[in-house]
Amino acid sequence: MRTLVPGVFCSLLVIVIALSLPATANSNSVTDYAPSTNVQCPDLSTTSLIRTFSPKNQTLHPDEDSYISTRENTVIRTAWTDWLGDGSGLGYNLSAVVSMFPKVGIAIPGGGLRAAQYGASTLLALDSRNATAKDAGTGGLLQVTSYITGLSGGSWITGSLSFNDWPTTDDLVFGNGKELSGWLLDIPFVTPDGDNIFSDKNQAFYGSLLWSVVSKANQGIDTSITDVWSRMISYHFLSQTTRSNFFTNDTAHGAGQLWSHITQTPAYQSFMMPFPIVVADSRPVGSNSTAALSLDSVVYEISPLEIASYDPSLSSGMNLSYAGTHLVNGRSNNGSSCTLGFDQAGFIMGTSASLFNQILDFAHNTLSQFSSSDSAGLLYLLSQQLSEVRTRANDVANWPNPFQGLAQQTFQDTQASWIELIDGSSNSENIPYGPLLVNARKLDVLVTLEGSADDVNNWPNGSSLIATALRQTEFLQPSHQKFPPIPPTPEAFISAGVNARPTFFGCDPANPDDYPLVIYLPNSPPLTGADPVANTATFQLAYSLKHTRLFFDQVFFNTISGFLPNTNKPDPNWGKCLQCAAIDRGRLRHVPVAPRSSICSDCFKQYCFDPQNPPSRSELPNRKQVFVDPDPQGISKLESFVGDNKLKLVGGLIGLVAFIALLSTAILLYRKYKRKQTEKVKYARLVFEEFQENPSSATYQLHEYSK
Ligand SMILES: *[C@@H]1O[C@H](CO)[C@@H](O)[C@H](O)[C@H]1NC(C)=O
Ligand SMILES: *[C@@H]1O[C@H](CO)[C@@H](O)[C@H](O)[C@H]1NC(C)=O
Ligand SMILES: *[C@@H]1O[C@H](CO)[C@@H](O)[C@H](O)[C@H]1NC(C)=O
Ligand SMILES: *[C@@H]1O[C@H](CO)[C@@H](O)[C@H](O)[C@H]1NC(C)=O
Ligand SMILES: *[C@@H]1O[C@H](CO)[C@@H](O)[C@H](O)[C@H]1NC(C)=O
Ligand SMILES: *[C@@H]1O[C@H](CO)[C@@H](O)[C@H](O)[C@H]1NC(C)=O
Ligand SMILES: *[C@@H]1O[C@H](CO)[C@@H](O)[C@H](O)[C@H]1NC(C)=O
Ligand SMILES: *[C@@H]1O[C@H](CO)[C@@H](O)[C@H](O)[C@H]1NC(C)=O
Repeated sequence: MRTLVPGVFCSLLVIVIALSLPATANSNSVTDYAPSTNVQCPDLSTTSLIRTFSPKNQTLHPDEDSYISTRENTVIRTAWTDWLGDGSGLGYNLSAVVSMFPKVGIAIPGGGLRAAQYGASTLLALDSRNATAKDAGTGGLLQVTSYITGLSGGSWITGSLSFNDWPTTDDLVFGNGKELSGWLLDIPFVTPDGDNIFSDKNQAFYGSLLWSVVSKANQGIDTSITDVWSRMISYHFLSQTTRSNFFTNDTAHGAGQLWSHITQTPAYQSFMMPFPIVVADSRPVGSNSTAALSLDSVVYEISPLEIASYDPSLSSGMNLSYAGTHLVNGRSNNGSSCTLGFDQAGFIMGTSASLFNQILDFAHNTLSQFSSSDSAGLLYLLSQQLSEVRTRANDVANWPNPFQGLAQQTFQDTQASWIELIDGSSNSENIPYGPLLVNARKLDVLVTLEGSADDVNNWPNGSSLIATALRQTEFLQPSHQKFPPIPPTPEAFISAGVNARPTFFGCDPANPDDYPLVIYLPNSPPLTGADPVANTATFQLAYSLKHTRLFFDQVFFNTISGFLPNTNKPDPNWGKCLQCAAIDRGRLRHVPVAPRSSICSDCFKQYCFDPQNPPSRSELPNRKQVFVDPDPQGISKLESFVGDNKLKLVGGLIGLVAFIALLSTAILLYRKYKRKQTEKVKYARLVFEEFQENPSSATYQLHEYSK
């Protein structure tokens, strides 16, 4: 009862605000998830929401251009000097050897919470704000970065950093006791109150998620399982959810936060953050495919400015603020059929992580890979959702197509009125390299925070780099830079050991424009020979705080340590070697080319992959492969969240009682609403129980609803 009252209060508040204020007011309710449809379009005869270009003559969005050049000329220039000083530590006179600093991008792949945590702890080791990392010489690379890309789990960290004003990742993940409440990874994603999906608190949580999703659907936008997933993501990675408001409607839980609003954050306004981009793939509309995509399917990128594709087959971008608007040849149906607010931040991260089409089996009502309770929770939510709202494809992110009618000869969805976006790794490219290889961006260095799980022990095996190299060769030659030479197969990656320690690819191009240099920092067994704790499964959707702490420390230590062949000792020169790699293209672009210093030459002998003379895995002794859970009882031991907050709730209640008395009219409205809701919930519960007893009849229900 106690927990219910604030919920009631909040709903009242929402109703009151909705009644008394114009629709544009910031109501801070979970229903802010709903976009506004049928709004006045800009005058499309004078401004265009679409930008088209050609693969050979690409343009970037002008605001991207100006963001990057301002950041480079102010923040980044200083950051290089803070990191490398005058260069003498590397054997260079920097001002004589480098006339233009290399342009750096960081890529964070997918792999759920493992990849997000791997990305976060690696970033900390590259962040000059952490004194340990700065002393090791690795801290500083983050500060000289122009772009950061994320995909699936990697998009969660990209988004989380962007919506929390770019703090250090230890503050971001663990909280700082002030405005940052941390990722709350010990509260399970799908079943925050434990495995019983019908517990009161799980039901209240699901009620909030569904309320968001239904509000979006009520605007005439088709939703899917990606929308409830997006709402779950928002509770952990955006900035409005704390341990004490988790099971309440007291806040919007990020529902009103828009990806396009990243440009209004202080870190963006002061050019302190790299330009963030996330990647999503697309399933050709009508294919209904539940298999991995082929490499020719369109890959999209979503920046705070645009959803775009630099694939030669599309070569267009759409103003992100107006995403959700269906355009044909760049035109709307009429002057007032535009949509705003579709680019909800959780939905962007959910789109990039929408992996359902390959694992949701309608015929058998199963969601493979997820644990049984996570799968039950998600299927329950989907059945609830489908009982209330119209949908189309249930297993993908549904986006109204702004590109209909464009690139008619080559664009796979040129006739479709919706596009079906799915997880950015669906075409086997699990690392979001695509945006960083776009010719017009002219990147010199691609830093890879490689947290992919490829082999049986969840370590990477290079297959993602191989897929990117192949896609570039087969489809992106006119539009994207080439990928540097890498081992040709996962087996070759493994036998060279380059997937198990830091490696530089592409150190010695004949010409600096041939391909960028890749700094590859793979998740790998601890250098020291300790038991690994960071090679967890992609579908593990909760971590005890103790596990996350140990995960962070282990990855951080590996990342600041490099390796010394045939030992378990850190390399005291690793920080310098990383600096050598980061600056090397600047030297190569200098006229005349300055010779590589002897310090850097030694580094490159050890860390560069030479296809003619590949290294050997045997140089990495005593590396333990098999995951050992450092906190086996961790998640089952979770305390009650409300237990800790009872006093606060009671204190707040006394004040509320008086307020509630003033709102009796609203109470009546609320009761009516609640009664309607209860009826709906009963019905859906019935359906779901039937589903448990008789899966085939529930299958029928799902299909029935989806019509
Ligand atoms: C390249 O595109 C720009 C901007 O769209 C245009 O002004 C320019 O004429 C184009 N150049 C060529 C060679 O097509
Ligand atoms: C470094 O190069 C700059 C520019 O060529 C020169 O002015 C300076 O004297 C050099 N510094 C040293 C220590 O050689
Ligand atoms: C830097 O981060 C690591 C990993 O979280 C932590 O162990 C270390 O104490 C931090 N260093 C400082 C000086 O805060
Ligand atoms: C939030 O409100 C919705 C709609 O009234 C309800 O279904 C849901 O259970 C509420 N959630 C919480 C946590 O109180
Ligand atoms: C995909 O599903 C739609 C709707 O159920 C159906 O009309 C269409 O024929 C299917 N396409 C393929 C290729 O199976
Ligand atoms: C999107 O369109 C609006 C209206 O034309 C414009 O004000 C805004 O600058 C555009 N945003 C971007 C990122 O192009
Ligand atoms: C414009 O399009 C919207 C959405 O399709 C529709 O609701 C509205 O009635 C249309 N207005 C006119 C004047 O046709
Ligand atoms: C490499 O990883 C891919 C998945 O990414 C997997 O299918 C393949 O079996 C792995 N190969 C080896 C040799 O580990």
